[in-house]
Amino acid sequence: MAADLRDPVRSALDAVLGTVREVHGGAVASYIPELAKADPDALGVALVSTRGMLHDAGDAGAEFTIQSVSKPFAFALAVDTFGIDEVTKHVGLEPSGEPFNAISLEPATGRPLNPMINAGAIVITSLLGGPDADADAKAAVVRTGLERFAGRDLVLAQDVYASEASTGDRNRALAYLTRSAGTLGATAEIATDAYFRQCSLLVTARDLAIMAATLANGGVNPVSGERVVGKDAARWTTAVMTSCGMYDASGTWLVHVGLPAKSGVGGGIVALQPGQFGIGTFSPPLDAQGNSVRGVAMLQELSTRFDLHMLEHRGAQLSPIASLERSDVGGETVAVLRGDLKFAGAEEVLTRLAPLVGDDGCLVLDFSAVTRVAEGARRVLSGVPERVGLTADGRPRVVIRDPEGVLERRDPA
Ligand code: DON
Repeated sequence: MAADLRDPVRSALDAVLGTVREVHGGAVASYIPELAKADPDALGVALVSTRGMLHDAGDAGAEFTIQSVSKPFAFALAVDTFGIDEVTKHVGLEPSGEPFNAISLEPATGRPLNPMINAGAIVITSLLGGPDADADAKAAVVRTGLERFAGRDLVLAQDVYASEASTGDRNRALAYLTRSAGTLGATAEIATDAYFRQCSLLVTARDLAIMAATLANGGVNPVSGERVVGKDAARWTTAVMTSCGMYDASGTWLVHVGLPAKSGVGGGIVALQPGQFGIGTFSPPLDAQGNSVRGVAMLQELSTRFDLHMLEHRGAQLSPIASLERSDVGGETVAVLRGDLKFAGAEEVLTRLAPLVGDDGCLVLDFSAVTRVAEGARRVLSGVPERVGLTADGRPRVVIRDPEGVLERRDPA
């Protein structure tokens, strides 16, 4: 039988699992009693590309509760529904550098510092569904939203929900504090009940990879094809994951792994690279920050092996100028441009070609091999022919040739 071309990716994931099996330490969460029953040896990883291809290894289909990994997705739903300005009246965007369950409210405004710590996440859940929604309605909004991110129905783990509800007094305290500060969008009882249900939804590493890939894909689930949130909401969420997703380990994580991420005490972690992929990992034992020990190790290994750090210098981009030819007819110079034109590419086009714009012939900018013009590039290029004007004999100094209309084509919002 012919080898499957995807095998190298799957084998790489298998090899990563092999490496992290040697990593020991950490403890399964027990402050929610039901979580203590998790299998400490369960280990899975899945990767989904923004084209919707799935690769996985180990226990990637094993179910566990999503816990805090739900926070970025609830935040994405909130900012998509209410807008970032409204949401940030209730929750800040600053890393707290504190544990996930810290009492962390800005003194002046009473806002929790960010939506990734419990206080901020409870406030986000309290906003969803609006001020008149009860706990059932809020939990339904969260669940439906998370299901669209995952592309399948998600089931509530009743036992974990009951366990969390019966031991969640610290979260109730956080809800009462934010309520008294005026930032909670519901009563403390409604907000925490919906939040406990949000945390108790069952997912797999595969689900997490698809959910993360949806954010990486600008808010469109790459497997189902459904737009779940807008591009802005996906970007805002990814930004908050980058600064706050791993709690008081976020700085170290950014240096060593360099991917926007979010962990949960159920043992899951999501990570993503915008425009490229989402990853979900599962391994229950946690470190002191509440992040999965082997999950962190898997993502560090993947990042190092495959150069995934988002701030990695990837060398000079391919020049956007494919060819430059001077024609004998009319003395025009044709610059054929190519590829995905971004701000720096547009800057290169104008800077390199500026000396060719004069009185002795026109410069044709040929966009026929350009696949996309990013908004930043469009702004740099817009109005160039008008700005450089005419030659002495009345011909335009710059002519745009754009047979496919790529300059007018906007990315979907
Ligand atoms: O609120 C809690 O404590 C849990 N439902 C979620 C905490 C969590 O997952 C923290 N993440 N590492």
